[in-house]
Amino acid sequence: MYETYSKQSKTFRLLWVALGVVGTLLPPDADTITAKCLANDFQPGPPADFYKRSYSDRFAPGTKPVLIKNARIWTGAQNGTEVIKGGILLDRGLIKEVGHVSRGTLDKFKHNLVEYDAEGRWVTPGIVDLHSHIGDASSPELEGASGDDNSLNGPILPWLRSLDGLNTHDDSYNLSIAGGVTTSLVLPGSANAIGGQGFVIKLRRTAERSPTSLLLEPPYEVVGGRGPPRWRHMKHACGENPDRVYRGTRMDTMWAWREAYNKARQIKEAQDAYCHRALRKDWAGLGEYPEDIQWEALVATLRGKVKVQTHCYEAVDLDDIVRLSNEFEFPIAAFHHAHEAYLVPDVLKRAYGHPPAVAIFATNARYKREAYRGSEFAPRILAENGLQVVMKSDHPVLNSRYLLYEAQQAFYYGLPENLAIASVTSTPATIMGLDHRIGYIKAGWDADVVVWDSHPLALGATPTQVFIDGIPQLHSPHVVEKPKSFQSTPKVPNFDKEAVDAVTYEGLPPLELKATSSNIVLFANVSSVYIPGQEGVQEVFSVEEEPYGVVVVEEGRIQCLGRYDSCVTAQTVEKAETIDLQGGSISPGLVSFGSPLGLVHIEGEISTADGYIYDPLESPTPKIIGGDAALVRAADGLEFASRDALLAYRFGVTKAVTAPINLGFISGLGVSFSTGAAHRLEEGAVIQEVTALHVSIGHTGATPSVSTQVAALRHLLLDPPKSEVGKWSKKVTQGIKPLVVEVHSADIIATLILLKKEVEAVKSINLKMTITGASEAHLLAAEIAEANIGVIVSPSRPFPTVWESRRILQGPPLTRDSAIAKLLKYNITVGLGIEEKWSARNLAFDVAWAALETDGSIDKAQAIALGSTNVEKLLGGRVEAEQLPELVARQNGDLFDMSSKVVAVISPRQRLVHAL
Ligand SMILES: *[C@@H]1O[C@H](CO)[C@@H](O)[C@H](O)[C@H]1NC(C)=O
Ligand SMILES: *[C@@H]1O[C@H](CO)[C@@H](O)[C@H](O)[C@H]1NC(C)=O
Ligand SMILES: *[C@@H]1O[C@H](CO)[C@@H](O)[C@H](O)[C@H]1NC(C)=O
Ligand SMILES: *[C@@H]1O[C@H](CO)[C@@H](O)[C@H](O)[C@H]1NC(C)=O
Repeated sequence: MYETYSKQSKTFRLLWVALGVVGTLLPPDADTITAKCLANDFQPGPPADFYKRSYSDRFAPGTKPVLIKNARIWTGAQNGTEVIKGGILLDRGLIKEVGHVSRGTLDKFKHNLVEYDAEGRWVTPGIVDLHSHIGDASSPELEGASGDDNSLNGPILPWLRSLDGLNTHDDSYNLSIAGGVTTSLVLPGSANAIGGQGFVIKLRRTAERSPTSLLLEPPYEVVGGRGPPRWRHMKHACGENPDRVYRGTRMDTMWAWREAYNKARQIKEAQDAYCHRALRKDWAGLGEYPEDIQWEALVATLRGKVKVQTHCYEAVDLDDIVRLSNEFEFPIAAFHHAHEAYLVPDVLKRAYGHPPAVAIFATNARYKREAYRGSEFAPRILAENGLQVVMKSDHPVLNSRYLLYEAQQAFYYGLPENLAIASVTSTPATIMGLDHRIGYIKAGWDADVVVWDSHPLALGATPTQVFIDGIPQLHSPHVVEKPKSFQSTPKVPNFDKEAVDAVTYEGLPPLELKATSSNIVLFANVSSVYIPGQEGVQEVFSVEEEPYGVVVVEEGRIQCLGRYDSCVTAQTVEKAETIDLQGGSISPGLVSFGSPLGLVHIEGEISTADGYIYDPLESPTPKIIGGDAALVRAADGLEFASRDALLAYRFGVTKAVTAPINLGFISGLGVSFSTGAAHRLEEGAVIQEVTALHVSIGHTGATPSVSTQVAALRHLLLDPPKSEVGKWSKKVTQGIKPLVVEVHSADIIATLILLKKEVEAVKSINLKMTITGASEAHLLAAEIAEANIGVIVSPSRPFPTVWESRRILQGPPLTRDSAIAKLLKYNITVGLGIEEKWSARNLAFDVAWAALETDGSIDKAQAIALGSTNVEKLLGGRVEAEQLPELVARQNGDLFDMSSKVVAVISPRQRLVHAL
């Protein structure tokens, strides 16, 4: 197409010269204008001879050719169903051959060919992230170098470019590559209706070290050069984010769009009228070509040359934007976040040109009204409606290193295997307009390839090597030995009914709990039983294969467990409700900590939350609550039956420990409660009114210096005031209650170790101290162990969010040990925590993943303890051997199998079994 245009233009010029049409009528820049007019109609895409390329424009000279041998290759072809066994030859930044690589070809590379034996492992194209802020919202977050993703200079800013803020020193590049991510679309933030232009980058380092050198097929309008147009990207955002920033309403934001698009349309129409005459050589009185550098990108959008990437959640917003697309006749590439898209597929199908793809999170939802109806079944429902599904990170909202985990969860909840792998590879590549070179393993495509240690949809799948432009990115990667079964497609449960309910109830299917019809429950075909106790979790029953065992539960208590004959009589069978676990397992309910679960329904809505607490280091606490010596109890702010709490319960997280929502130094007294309870007065709703005293030390919030915070803590412990806070700090210094300190920095942890020793010397006691967060704790593992301090790692897969948490232990494939594995090696009591309440439901996955990364050094019982008894112990909860713990029954496997599904919770406190 481009070639034709060049020839035409040259011919025109020659023709005009020949005819003598040059002169007064012909403007001096007629050539340029003619070129512009002709180019207006060209559609972006690769040049016609693209596949004739013998090397990539991103080829780094010196890169050696690579043969990946013995691979199981997911190519992306045939709707993502093609899997080939064989080799992949990479040369000059390109995939040269796939499958059988001939001797003849290999002979050509005899001398410098690098051979990589995949040992039968899975290989996929590099992971492609359709929605990232990597580099623009960079990590660790620093005032000077982060927050370059949102301009606050108006609702309509189509002229801004994410490229202009791209920090090349973001720690995330290496981390995300270690998760197999090779390409990201870096979008401006969502503070504006039109936030600006997005750019596609590859994440590998370049010799030039510049943002420009990271770009993949950048538009010539931006970087210069010639050729056919390249796809551009424009960020749009509707709903709460732009509305809040500009104090408008949805009505204001829509008008801002219509006004902007109207302006762009006027320019476009003026250009078209101009070109209509110019191309007929009717130059008389035409004047200058109508264009405006500010509106150029939006005019290009109306010409169909820009992929519109729209952050948009609710039915009302999706409908608004679809109307806008039809009014101004531009297609929408994708709706991002789009938590209600699965409820209104027909609205999407009405969009101008073609239905937008939908780019979503797997289980991150309910953080604002717009996200409240988000469903884990959205990916499968959208796919069933024929819409393209993309899983995305919104990095650093989710750490894009684990973007594949989003696809794994989508798969667990019913997105077919082929579409799940495609949702982070070929589908986003297609939506970016780059599927001619990335997102597939095909001869002629870019050499972006990931070798995985297991099936890509197996939980915890980790690269053993990542190639970008043919360059291996991992130096001496650490590979964890996974069970053989991890090489096959994981079996997943059936959620057909739940998926139908999600739509029937418009995203709010009832989560209330129902007891079994009989108070005697016979769990049949049980393969293992784990019970919590003083010493942690014990495996009390286990059979590898049929005949499995039974567990008889009466009034919420186990009466008998073992072989069928020894537990079950004809009478039991008659009276009992039988639940067939199909080789499933019974294990302790998990315990969530780290988020405000139980204190908030919707983070973005203050009316749904307990609210903030006073920080006496910041401002005086009102006298009416006791002045600066006041102390609040999370128990008094509990809000039961939030959807996140009930979902956690239904996914086996039956308990949570929550501290008052703390933005400063002192938090208050933690509480432990049942995530399944309906209200505070229900039997067993509050398990323990007061668990521990919680403080946090660091730079979150606006508290004064770390040294001031430590001084306050020292004063509290050594010289407690006569007051509520003094009373509880005495319980800490008497060794009765633990002190739980949220802290990330190793320097602060070191100070806390010294403070603990100081207090213990003065008071002659053993102070119980637990640190949470603990991103840098691994640096002091020996000292923490020696000081007998427990650690709750939250998030359980650390990320360098801020300076004081930057020195993380990355874990495989970058380091042998994960943070958790290292702390366990020092015999430290370790628990797993979370940061945001939506993720409480995923704790079983976190436990299974952490266990995998210990490379077999802990058994299943010890792993379950990381998410249950250890968390309780560390936070001052009573371990409940005698008190009869809640137990969770999973069908079809145990907590470590993606095939398993929670089907019942055994509740001794309520003396019943909840069938789910
Ligand atoms: C692609 O795969 C999905 C899920 O397996 C299926 O529903 C769909 O019909 C397939 N599309 C084509 C074009 O074969
Ligand atoms: C990223 O990895 C490269 C080697 O692959 C290394 O040279 C560089 O220092 C790493 N960058 C950071 C910020 O860790
Ligand atoms: C246990 O599993 C077997 C094999 O699937 C099945 O035939 C049997 O009915 C199950 N037992 C009960 C009590 O459900
Ligand atoms: C941890 O405990 C085990 C078993 O008690 C012991 O063999 C090992 O030496 C301990 N490790 C450290 C680092 O103290």
